[in-house]
Amino acid sequence: MFITLEGPDGSGKTSQMQPLAEAIRAAGYDLVVTREPGGTPIGDEVRQVIMDLNHKGQMHPTTEILLFQASRAQLVNEVIRPALAAGVVVLCDRYADSTLAYQGYGHQTDLATLRRIVEFATGGLTPDLTLLLDIDVEAGLRRRAEDGGQWNRMDAYQLEFHRRVRAGYHELAAQEPARWVTVDADRDPAAIQADLQRIVLERLQGR
Ligand code: TYD
Repeated sequence: MFITLEGPDGSGKTSQMQPLAEAIRAAGYDLVVTREPGGTPIGDEVRQVIMDLNHKGQMHPTTEILLFQASRAQLVNEVIRPALAAGVVVLCDRYADSTLAYQGYGHQTDLATLRRIVEFATGGLTPDLTLLLDIDVEAGLRRRAEDGGQWNRMDAYQLEFHRRVRAGYHELAAQEPARWVTVDADRDPAAIQADLQRIVLERLQGR
């Protein structure tokens, strides 16, 4: 089973990953935990290029889109597909939906084109379950600043951009209600974690 976590910047996604992973393992499942961009040695190098503040304002949007797909293609083929083939559960912090939400809805790149490029990068591999950590844009960015989180090139875009990303996630979730589960992320982290564990374990046990 392939599970992804999605959400706007500051949704607290990354800090929810480890306790969720521990709960899945404690329930007796073999698990691989990974993230995008990155998750492989090659992907981590691509991540550095994407995030580098020195490239601010210089990286062409098409370059950025293709770098995300390069990292993803490597992750799918080196990590995700082999794990799934071995019956291992995969939990990934961001995946193809981030490209649709950020580059598609956020930067308003043609969605049909993006879907084709994503399909090429992933070979059509789609998550079985996608958890959306949903949070108001201002609350999310505030939380990220308070956490002293790394302020990278991707955060520097306008508020409007982040609003489009969030609305994009809502649309994607509405298009595939069987795959997406939306969780209110503007709450106590322990309450969010409890919801995530319940949803994931129910799905795993239902299989
Ligand atoms: P990261 O520091 O991993 O942020 P987060 O903790 O929010 O996941 O940075 C990833 C950034 O890259 C984030 O702003 C989302 C963006 N992104 C895209 O724009 N497109 C993509 O396809 C992916 C995977 C990420």
